[in-house]
Amino acid sequence: MKDKRTFPEGFYWGAASASYQVEGGIENCDWAKGSRDGKVPVCGKACDHYNRYEEDFDMAKSLGHNATRISIEWARIEPEEGKFDMAEIEHYKKVLESIHDRGMMPFVTLWHFTLPQWFADQGGFENKKSPEFFARYCEFVVKNLGDYCRHWVTINEPLVYTNNGYIRKFWPPFKRSLRLYNKVFNNLVRAHIRAYEKIKNLDIACEVGIVKDNFYWHANWNPFNKIAALFMGWWWNRRFLNKIKQSVDSIGLNYYFHKKFGDTATYEKSDMGWDLYPEGLYHTLRELKQYNKPLFVAEAGIADEKDFYREDYIRDMLYWMHVAIERGAVVRGFLYWSLLDNYEWAHGFGKRFGLIEIDYENQKRTIRKSALAYRDICKSNSLHT
Ligand code: FCB
Repeated sequence: MKDKRTFPEGFYWGAASASYQVEGGIENCDWAKGSRDGKVPVCGKACDHYNRYEEDFDMAKSLGHNATRISIEWARIEPEEGKFDMAEIEHYKKVLESIHDRGMMPFVTLWHFTLPQWFADQGGFENKKSPEFFARYCEFVVKNLGDYCRHWVTINEPLVYTNNGYIRKFWPPFKRSLRLYNKVFNNLVRAHIRAYEKIKNLDIACEVGIVKDNFYWHANWNPFNKIAALFMGWWWNRRFLNKIKQSVDSIGLNYYFHKKFGDTATYEKSDMGWDLYPEGLYHTLRELKQYNKPLFVAEAGIADEKDFYREDYIRDMLYWMHVAIERGAVVRGFLYWSLLDNYEWAHGFGKRFGLIEIDYENQKRTIRKSALAYRDICKSNSLHT
């Protein structure tokens, strides 16, 4: 007989996205400049989600989602230093209303990698004033949109940002410097704490969280490998969280990677070349238990153009998430990455993470088969294994 695993009542089910990756038409940020300089692919109209969000949320609703994660584009809200654009606030108000109208709960990220050009020109998070700039922007958004959202996230994946921008030279500002890496890391810690304080001072009932990109670091029998795994667990997974843990109401986990030191096994891989290791979601959730904060899976997903692995991968991750819940992790939602195929940063449009396929020639949306399997889980709040 099949085993039925039921998730906690009121569990949030949905998918995640980020403004620059789907909206289209954002030209005044560091990534757009990077593409004009030929360093990263052009984003252009992306999925034209800025104009098509209602159609996209209709589809999310039809897929049984009761939550969705979006982000706000800082460069739209504050196109020039200290000048805020109320027309863009109105736009996001409509976006948030349309999410609520469809019975979904919005989770909103205030900053998902892209910097307004004026801020990048001043050194971005290398600038010692950056925490203040960031907190002022966050405060402004929550003050104006606070009635439409209860679940705010300040920063998406701080370590991916510092690593790709300041070590790997892969993302803006395309640098390699341990000194700047540390400076930016520390400023991001300050920026989060400052934004948290300012938002809390507004006295609007809301939750302010962080989204953290964690790996499952593990090792074979070799004690040196075990030490390496322990060290990386601290260095990559917990160091940032340890510094902000007094100033955070919830933690969103993005899980994509495991790394087993001394491993000779081979794994099935996504189109990104990333190992499929769904069990890692269990371990990363368990590790976060120590912070005693409510958790949600803010992103987990697979690039799989043929939609060959996606259904099983989602089911396997949800199985492991359920085991984590059974063993005491307080997980309140799962937001698959991503609702739509989108601009996968330095990889451009070729990598397809979406529950919904996009034809970039004509913006046609097509629901993938795996999205229907996920729909049945969302609707029944349970998983048959
Ligand atoms: C995460 C990012 C997200 C997306 C996925 C695949 O690191 O937060 O924007 O690119 O990876």
